[in-house]
Order: sequence, then C-alpha cells, then structure tokens
Amino acid sequence: LEDGVRTFRLTAEAGRTAFAGVEPATATWGFSGSFLGPTLRAQRGERVAFEIENDLPEATSVHWHGMHLPAAMDGGPHQMIAPGDVWRPTWIIDQPAATLWYHPHPHGATEQHVYRGLAGLFILDDDASLSAALPQDYGVDDLPLIVQDKQFDDDGRLVLRDDGSEPGSLGDTIMVNGTVGAYQEVTTERVRLRLLNGSTARTYTFEIPDRQMTLIATDGGFLDAPLPMEQVRLAPGERAEVVVAFAPGETVRLRSAKTQLGGILLPGTSGGNDAFDVLEFRAASSLTPSPEPSWPRAADAVADEMHEDEASTNRSFVLEEREINGERMDMSRIDEVVHVGDTEVWTVRSSQPIPHSFHIHDVQFRVLTIDGSAPPAKLAGPKDTIYLEPNREYRLLVRFEDYADPEMPYMYHCHMLLHEDEGMMGQFVVI
Ligand code: C2O
Ligand code: CU
Ligand code: CU
Repeated sequence: LEDGVRTFRLTAEAGRTAFAGVEPATATWGFSGSFLGPTLRAQRGERVAFEIENDLPEATSVHWHGMHLPAAMDGGPHQMIAPGDVWRPTWIIDQPAATLWYHPHPHGATEQHVYRGLAGLFILDDDASLSAALPQDYGVDDLPLIVQDKQFDDDGRLVLRDDGSEPGSLGDTIMVNGTVGAYQEVTTERVRLRLLNGSTARTYTFEIPDRQMTLIATDGGFLDAPLPMEQVRLAPGERAEVVVAFAPGETVRLRSAKTQLGGILLPGTSGGNDAFDVLEFRAASSLTPSPEPSWPRAADAVADEMHEDEASTNRSFVLEEREINGERMDMSRIDEVVHVGDTEVWTVRSSQPIPHSFHIHDVQFRVLTIDGSAPPAKLAGPKDTIYLEPNREYRLLVRFEDYADPEMPYMYHCHMLLHEDEGMMGQFVVI
C-alpha cells in the first residue's frame, strides 16, 4: 500500500468469547479478533486504505456508518465480500471530527452479523478537535462505549431470538465493549464518553442519576456549545459524546432508564419498560484536573453550514409495515436520484405507533423541524441517524456534496436491523 496513506488491515473472523468469564465460551464473530473490532482512527485530509479479508463461512460487507465517501467504498449491500475474498476500499477523510462506526451490511442478514459481534468505532479527528479543551487520552479519560444487549441461554451461549417480537431481538444482558458487568476506574476530574448504541433493536435512555452530563457531540460531530443534559436517548446506530464530572473516591453508575416517548412509555415488547445498569465508574481518591469542556468552532464548519433556502428538492419518506413509501427494499431498484451539489429537504415519518431509527448513508443532516417546531438543542447538531417518534414529522436538511456515481447507490433505512433486513430500506444514487 502507498506511502503517506493510513492503512488498516481487518479480518472478519469466527471465534469464541467467554463473556464475563462464563465457560463454555460462546461462538461469536469479530474483526481481527473474536468479538467486536479495533477502534480505527484517522484525521481530516488523510487518505485511508483498507484490506479487509472475510474469513467467515458466509459473505459479508463492511459499511462505514456516518462517513462521507464514494458509494463504491461505502460497504453497503452492493460491496459484498465472499468468503476468502479481500476488499480494498480507499478514500480521503473529508468531514469534521466525529465518532463514527463500522459494521456489516449484507442485505437480509445485517441483524445477525452485527449481533454476533461485528462492529467497531471509527474516530475522526480534525484541527479543532485536537486543540479542544476536552478529555482526549484514549482509554483513560476518553472512553469508547459500544453498548449492546444480548441474550444468553442456560449454557451461556449467545442466542439470537427469532420470535417475531416487534423491534427484533432484545437481550436482557447489557454489554459495554463486549464486557458484561463493566466498570471503569476514573483517574481524572472529567471523562468523555463516546457512546454508540450498537444494539440491533433496543433504544437506550442513558443517565447518571442525580448528575448532569454535558453533551458535546452527536453522530456527525460537535454541537455549537456544551449542553447540560439529564438523559441522552440513543436509538440503534446513533452516537453521542458526553463529558461527565467526578468527585474523588465516589462510585457512580451510568444507567439506561425507561424510554419515554413524549410521556408515553414504549410498549414492553419494544423494550421501553426495561432499565439497566450499563457501566460503573470508580473514582480514585485523588483525581487529575481536567478543563471545563470547550472547543474551537472549525472554520470550515461555519463555511460548510447548510441553509434551508438553498434546498432545491423536497422528498418525503413514510415508514410503515417494513416498507418505505409502500416499497420494500429491492437491490435492483433505484428509489431516488439526487443531483450532485444539491441541498434537499427530506421529510420523514413513522406512520404507525412504532418508532424507527432513520439513517442516511454518505451524509450528515440537520434536523430543521419536528412537527413544525425547531428541534431541541440536543438534536440541532450533525446527525446521520435519528429516532423517529411515532406519527411525528421530521424535516431533515441534507446536502449531497460530491461523489457522483450513476451506477452505485447509497442506502437509507431503518437502523432497527430486523426492520432493515425485512425491507425497510431504499437506495439513492447521486448523479
Ligand atoms: Cu449503520 Cu446502513 O448503516
Ligand atoms: Cu450507514
Ligand atoms: Cu424501524
């Protein structure tokens, strides 16, 4: 591989994992290991190149969720890697600092592949993020947290439930970075959590009881300013970065509370009534000082800002019965044709009393309105995935900057992966 290119090698492979030390170890899949994958990291302006080998017994793909890149490099269902094959995508990182992730996208089997363990984080840096007054010592005060729910049988084996329950498989065991009963030693006054909901179906409402968290970033990067929050709700595929302050010697828990929908609890079958401990923090008796969170606004972020009056096209998407606009995903049908350079408004709605998690490949969008009103500040930052509360209208502002390719589509879909697998997905090309 070329000089000056940040290169990565990943192998999708089968292995065994003894979760929480429970034997017999269970059969799992991972990237270059038996469960999950390494955190990848690159900086704005760098060229990245990959060699991804598939050592699994079936075809898979590797999608770069949240990444702005050519459709042929996107790793969706058109970039399948057959068993034994190697896929070599490459592109230039051209977007602000953010916490992205990667996972398989084989049409009809994404839920299974992710559930078995194929997922990892992809952190992007830029000048603004590297000079920010924020915790950034990876693994010390800057923690990647891949949160997933799993179900184990009496023998400690991973079970993929297939009981047709509405949102897909819900597990009763919460794992953080593949660990059951996770805890973290805290040695600094503040810790940054890069939260990913890497679950296939479950939505979380994260909180630390009696403590504010400071939301600093959503899916695609920083908010305009730090935002104190009591709770952070994340649907499958969404990310948030929060900073939490600790006192010396204390033990506190990050939890997931019952998930509210405008005051109504989600039905029990969707997991909305479940509450979990997620991660315990154990603070040392003396803590290293950390700065008050702040970051410079990247000059290009201001220049790149999208404005509604630039939008030339409106499209609307109704999610209902595993269909979008009355159609199930068809690999050979292009649903939308977008013109390169255009800014558009996408109006999205779940028309049943069922929430969804709407995701668009290649772009970061802005939420313009929810039911006609400006979104709350926590949803005003860059997003690529958004929890759709039932029967509400979300207007999203989205720009298709470059990478025209009439042959190769990008996807948009529900990130509740059973919904996606069953057809709640469509394809768009940028021409
Ligand atoms: Cu995170 Cu189309 O996927
Ligand atoms: Cu994606
Ligand atoms: Cu859905």
